[in-house]
Amino acid sequence: MKSPIINSTYLSAAPTSLVESAISGFKTHYGLTATHIAIAPARVNIIGDHTDYTQGLAMPMTVNRWTVIVGANGDSPAVWQLESDLFTRTVSINSELVIEPANDTADYARGVIAEYLNWLAKNGHTKPHAQKLYCVSNIPIGAGLSSSAAFSVALATYIEDLCNLDQCPTRRAAISRTAEHKFAGVPCGIMDQYTIINGRKNSALKLDCRSENAELINMCGTEPIRWLVIHSGISHQLSDGNYAARFNECKEVEALLGKSLRDCDNSDVARLKNPTLYKRAKHVVSENKRVIQFAKSLAQNNWHSVGTVMNQSHQSLSQDFQSACSEIDQLVTLAQKAHGVYGARITGGGFGGAIIALIDAKRAESIAETIIRGYKNVTRVDAKFWLVSPVDGARMIQLNHKFDDH
Ligand code: GLA
Repeated sequence: MKSPIINSTYLSAAPTSLVESAISGFKTHYGLTATHIAIAPARVNIIGDHTDYTQGLAMPMTVNRWTVIVGANGDSPAVWQLESDLFTRTVSINSELVIEPANDTADYARGVIAEYLNWLAKNGHTKPHAQKLYCVSNIPIGAGLSSSAAFSVALATYIEDLCNLDQCPTRRAAISRTAEHKFAGVPCGIMDQYTIINGRKNSALKLDCRSENAELINMCGTEPIRWLVIHSGISHQLSDGNYAARFNECKEVEALLGKSLRDCDNSDVARLKNPTLYKRAKHVVSENKRVIQFAKSLAQNNWHSVGTVMNQSHQSLSQDFQSACSEIDQLVTLAQKAHGVYGARITGGGFGGAIIALIDAKRAESIAETIIRGYKNVTRVDAKFWLVSPVDGARMIQLNHKFDDH
């Protein structure tokens, strides 16, 4: 079982100190000065879950947690080295040999490097000089904030820069996603990689996973509200089979109905005789509609309506798509009942992980603490929370880069 590459030493660090930690970690470990720095944020999905791999709609945003990869040319032109606090030893990847998954945390790196080497060879580019890399991150693992995609996209961004390729958002998203399919065994959609690459400060993305285009939804003017993410403490593992099972069920529905779930309506869903497939399809078809409703309500700053749609989304994911778990349901119920909360739902792949709630900005911290206390009383599990806001997507930065820190 693999966990995404991550370490937890820097959980509350701002990007400046995270980058400084990466540069000094690199220096200490390799005795060299880093020449390249890539940074990629976390993403949270506000609404539209389990719709991306059937060409549907979602509304994710990049949020203020980051993975940073720094590096420089290695001693050998062929052997990549990767170090992170998570590893007990440095990971080596020999680009002269066939790169295969090893079923450990470094598979995300193996996947991205292997896929770029293939792409470069096919497109007549020379192999880049192998790199020594050092990675730090403050994106929590298994919390539904896409720590794995942030890592893959940071590395993809680094490699495109190293090879002097124009940073191509479509290629970076496609290669990072394929790496996840082949090396982590997760048949994920495009949402995570797309968002981490294309996210913008102060905006959410209304993402159409069919056209792979997104409308930027401006979040300025939303000062009365905050987005609260609470990690249930139940770590999710998308590679453990549940996610693939849901993916396969949706593909079965599409084969039975002879069209993409994106093009289905309630009358198509009603034709499904198998009760499980019926419920999965019902969720996807209704969730696509909810994304549209959500965007309308958000544009009107109608927080009550936005919250209601979030609550409906949770009910659908929990009961029809069955991608929640009892702890997540408890957490969502507590959040929905709390004073100052407009709505709450599970977010991301599910089967554990995190919830997202839309809350009153004036009392944000105390609302979060109340929910967490209630959750501890019922489940005995410690939850963690983050008040998140949208930030810019993945990019290369210079050694002296100045962030307006969050
Ligand atoms: C994971 C996947 C995404 C998406 C979500 C659920 O995060 O990586 O592609 O399917 O689950 O919406």
